[in-house]
Amino acid sequence: MCGIIGLVSQNYFKSNDVIKMLKRLEYRGYDSFGIVTNSGLFEKKVGEVTSVTDNKCTQAIAHTRWATTGEVTKENAHPHSSCDGRIFIVHNGIINNYVELKEGLVAKGHIFRSETDSEVIAHFFEEELKTKPMPGAVERFFRVASGEFAVIIMIKGDSKLYAMKRGSPLSLGMLEDGNVISSDIYAFSGKTDKAVFFHEDEFAVVNEKGYEFYRFDGTSLEPVKKEITEVKWSSNEEGKKYDHYMIKEIYEQPEALERLYHSLKNGQKESAEKLKALMKSSKRIVFVASGTSYHATLLGVYFLNKSGVEAHTIIASEFRNFYLVDKDTLIIAVSQSGETMDVIEALHGMKARGAKIASLVNVPYSTIQRMSNVSVNIEAGQEICVAATKSFVNQVACLHYIASMFNGAEIADLPGDVRKVLSQENNIRDLAKSLVKSRDIYIIGRGFLYPVAREIALKLKEISYIHAEGMMGGELKHGTLALIEKGTPVIALINGRSEIVSNVMEVKARGGRIIAISNSGMAGELIRIDSDDEVSFSTAATVAGQLLTYYIAKEKNLPIDKPRNLSKTITVK
Ligand code: BG6
Repeated sequence: MCGIIGLVSQNYFKSNDVIKMLKRLEYRGYDSFGIVTNSGLFEKKVGEVTSVTDNKCTQAIAHTRWATTGEVTKENAHPHSSCDGRIFIVHNGIINNYVELKEGLVAKGHIFRSETDSEVIAHFFEEELKTKPMPGAVERFFRVASGEFAVIIMIKGDSKLYAMKRGSPLSLGMLEDGNVISSDIYAFSGKTDKAVFFHEDEFAVVNEKGYEFYRFDGTSLEPVKKEITEVKWSSNEEGKKYDHYMIKEIYEQPEALERLYHSLKNGQKESAEKLKALMKSSKRIVFVASGTSYHATLLGVYFLNKSGVEAHTIIASEFRNFYLVDKDTLIIAVSQSGETMDVIEALHGMKARGAKIASLVNVPYSTIQRMSNVSVNIEAGQEICVAATKSFVNQVACLHYIASMFNGAEIADLPGDVRKVLSQENNIRDLAKSLVKSRDIYIIGRGFLYPVAREIALKLKEISYIHAEGMMGGELKHGTLALIEKGTPVIALINGRSEIVSNVMEVKARGGRIIAISNSGMAGELIRIDSDDEVSFSTAATVAGQLLTYYIAKEKNLPIDKPRNLSKTITVK
């Protein structure tokens, strides 16, 4: 939900070198950003990460924010500093008891400049360091602070950086001439392939030559030996220049699918087999996911049920209200980022009830992957646009592949199906232009197309800012039909099933405007899908919805990759 970064080096580097790395964390939030260096630069700006005053330094911390506590203002942007301007902090997460901590500090004379919870960390350490060394101050912070935090602290005149992790992700990259600390490894991709991952309640002292890690065991800090992970970077297709990451990632889908299938049959064959074995030995299989990933699990449950495997899926933030979890339950988390707090929370809760954990993730070495007994990577490649596109299609393909391991179903040529839809780009762009002024758009589908209807609706809301509802076709007449007026656009996902056609007629009878995404010839506005295979149709129809959304938003001159109020990874509950 926010991105933090710290850099300490034996050689001088430029403040905007850090900002370039911070830019790679911008999918985590882009309401405001800021930086402080050991050569006196302290700059904060509202809005997405751009650039700062150039400044040569050997130590810096920086932050890009997705606002939770405190509005989007310059004062609320990080880094935050202590009263005496010596201590600077950047923070990702939420300090749940910040009001109580702040009251105590104000009573001791501390003056706060922002409305944020994070600022309390700067004053907390300013107060504690009056009477104890850093380790003691850190021990007390771990003891008294509640919530999630990934924090990097920089102190004037001190060449070390201090970093703490509880709940929110944090990793360290070993550079040739220094060290970088970051919310995730993408900030330093291409700069090193040696990473060290912070685990829960760990603290590190980092300088330009090395680092020391400690774990807080409830009372004190104990030194801990850390493993160095060789990170394998997935290639990120650079090809023709695109106007936005969203359209680039939509076009990457065929290659991403090919990469996934290759991986499942080769490098990840063993992991897929292990996952199948775990599923077979579990009495119950429950998917846990949020947002677009949840829609993928709805399709996953459908495919598994068709192959004779019973499975449930729950929205991660609702896991407390799902009771069928015990030691014979397998929880399969599906998460692009592998860092969604709702999912992490659910996994902790389910583990506590004895469940085993598996996961399908896109970001390697992510928290959810590291919490899993078995994990499969969906191989979509880095996805920058806040709205999930290629990650959804690869999640669906991966789930279908797993289901086919139970019933030997044929794997369709999804890359080819997607390419056929992409070839209709001009037709879809023209259609999009006629939807730009829509106030509401409804999407109806039956059976396996209901999740696709939900997913297309989410894309429209996230990216084109049009209210959209994805629903089961048969449900339209039980209420929502009251909202259909003359010209109301209804996108009908038609895979030749007769029942959906009757729903189409009900809409037309009320003057609604039907736009068909269909594999059967239909009069009227049509995006043609040349397949009746279920996973092909659902994938191709989704891509049609992605393109439609993209061109509506483009026509409306919306930000697209970084839509208002959202962020790619929500690492708060
Ligand atoms: C939301 C994103 O914040 O999180 C969605 O905007 C995404 O695009 C959802 O589907 C779940 O994220 P993840 O990383 O767990 O798949």
